[in-house]
Amino acid sequence: MLLGVNIDHVATLRNARGELDPNVLEAAKVCMLAGANGITTHLREDRRHIADFDVFMIKNELDCKLNLEMAATYEMKKIALDLLPHACCIVPERREELTTEGGLDVYSQKEKLAEFVKPLLDNGIEVSLFITPDRKQVSAAADIGVKFIELHTGSYSRAFGKENEEQELIRLKQATSLAHLLGLTVNAGHGLNYQNVSRMHEIDGLHELNIGHSIISRAVFIGLDSAVKEMINLVNKN
Ligand code: PXP
Repeated sequence: MLLGVNIDHVATLRNARGELDPNVLEAAKVCMLAGANGITTHLREDRRHIADFDVFMIKNELDCKLNLEMAATYEMKKIALDLLPHACCIVPERREELTTEGGLDVYSQKEKLAEFVKPLLDNGIEVSLFITPDRKQVSAAADIGVKFIELHTGSYSRAFGKENEEQELIRLKQATSLAHLLGLTVNAGHGLNYQNVSRMHEIDGLHELNIGHSIISRAVFIGLDSAVKEMINLVNKN
């Protein structure tokens, strides 16, 4: 499996002081040198962490696979078409949430989303839809014409070590199998950490994991380079 490191919370720390440290571009470089397969950033409507200049600086100054997470808004589409990142992951977004709480409801807005992603696809951007492991949502994503989905692992992560852990893992396995049958490539992420990530190996054919908070948290104690390498060891292990 591949690892995309989400560096949003380097920007959270920087913004706490309104200055330039820690430097987000430097953080992206460290992650790539440590062996990450790409950098993920979520440009939120309220710009609470990553800012526009971060994504443009990473795109222009670092040779890496940049995955831009964004809401399906006109503003974000315009930015994505200027930036032309390697990939865009379309996520739901609510101002009051602490983090991306649920998946995108693709099923009930298929036409709107198909229209939204078309110019991104036409411009060669890999588009992925961030959805919960639900059959209806997986099928709807395939209908839209994207090639990638990212399964929301938040429920699995919260269930880890509890009685519903198995059930949540099964949901992820079933959604992945269906997605593969429909020709989709499957990524996963949200809430994954150094403990619960191991069971992602039980899901056949997962392509990439996007992990942020746990890596940046671990970096506080052991440094970003080591935190990324530790996670790569877990993600690559069979
Ligand atoms: N994938 C997506 C689509 C996300 O929105 C997020 C959080 O921004 C992540 C992965 C990473 O989640 P975490 O920070 O919990 O590892």
